[in-house]
Amino acid sequence: MEHHEILRQQFLRHVAQTSPSPLMISVARAEGVRFFTADDKPYYDLIAGVSVSNVGHSNPAVVEAVKRQAEQYMHVMVYGEMLYRPQIEYARRIAEHLPSPLESIYFTNSGAEAVEGALKLAKRYTHRTELISMRRAYHGSTLGAMAMMGTPEGEEWKSAFRPMPADIQSIEFNDFEALQRITERTACVLCEPVQGEAGVRTPADGYLMALRQRCDEVGALLIFDEIQTGMGRTGEMFAMTKYGVTPDIVCLAKAFGGGMPLGAFISSNAIMESLQNNPTLGHITTFGGHPVCCAAGLAALQYIEENHLVAEVERKGALYEELLTGHPMVREIRRSGLLLAVELGSEERLFATMEAFKEEGVLSDWFLYCSTAFRISPPLTISDDEIRDSSRIILRCLDRLA
Ligand SMILES: Cc1ncc(COP(=O)(O)O)c(C=O)c1O
Repeated sequence: MEHHEILRQQFLRHVAQTSPSPLMISVARAEGVRFFTADDKPYYDLIAGVSVSNVGHSNPAVVEAVKRQAEQYMHVMVYGEMLYRPQIEYARRIAEHLPSPLESIYFTNSGAEAVEGALKLAKRYTHRTELISMRRAYHGSTLGAMAMMGTPEGEEWKSAFRPMPADIQSIEFNDFEALQRITERTACVLCEPVQGEAGVRTPADGYLMALRQRCDEVGALLIFDEIQTGMGRTGEMFAMTKYGVTPDIVCLAKAFGGGMPLGAFISSNAIMESLQNNPTLGHITTFGGHPVCCAAGLAALQYIEENHLVAEVERKGALYEELLTGHPMVREIRRSGLLLAVELGSEERLFATMEAFKEEGVLSDWFLYCSTAFRISPPLTISDDEIRDSSRIILRCLDRLA
């Protein structure tokens, strides 16, 4: 039996699948903005593992850092108690990129765990119970994070798993009047500064500032989920800088680990200290902040800095927008830096486009709450030539369906 066919059968039998129709593309190696299948078919990775591989696949600087750290030590003892250089160094360097007072970093395994930790911290600090999220928000798949998927759109995912954690409501993103629903009962409001899975929705002028003000008025904490927008994706190291709003807590993951599993929730020392007592060990994690993951994240951050990647993001995103705008199939392009939603206006068209992409060697994806648009969020290292070449392939696929 052919090697690929054996792999396919073993995958179907032994690896749990998340949908009835998995993509079934095998990966043999990856480099820069491309990956290659076992029979060496190249694919443009236009989603970068869903905003993970910002410094490109198999970035030599990251690979070297991983090797070096793995040779020194990997796991010794759970974190927050011992001194591990890669972790301390990465915490210090990330804090330099964040506005004051965001300087105390709690490392986690994933984005969902970062969100869980942030919600617990807000409850613990404010002694309040109500949590508020935004409609069409996605914050992760664990029960607490999932409960923060706004209603009614999030019901499709939540309803089979009820009961959800209690005292949660959602408000419409960009609705200034709805901010009045944030009150003295509210522990925190959790918000993506640019909504990712909603299909790339940017905040209206002044909205995040008004949200900040309302939280301040009633003493609720503001949590930004920058899991998808962080590490340069929107054209600033963090989207919060774009909008001039500092949250009380920020959650990071995805590209934060440079391709390794790593997340964090970050706050001021004053707020973070409340996790130490009543109870002690208010949030604990065996692997969160693993030295190898921190070494990878740190190397990726250094690569971003040394190669001035963030300064190029807006221009590169605009180039994609320019090249794809005007095709008769493209209804609209919503964009923040190198995070683009190319709106085709119908699910049928989108699914047919995805099939054509697969044949032509392009990996894209749609959005959890928007199955009429495809995603472009490539490694930030993508060159102008690669943007032009991948756009040509995209346009060719769209032509086939026009
Ligand atoms: C905005 C946002 N928050 C949280 C998460 C969850 O992160 P993870 O899959 O690492 O748990 C995601 C993942 O897609 C995300 O896009």
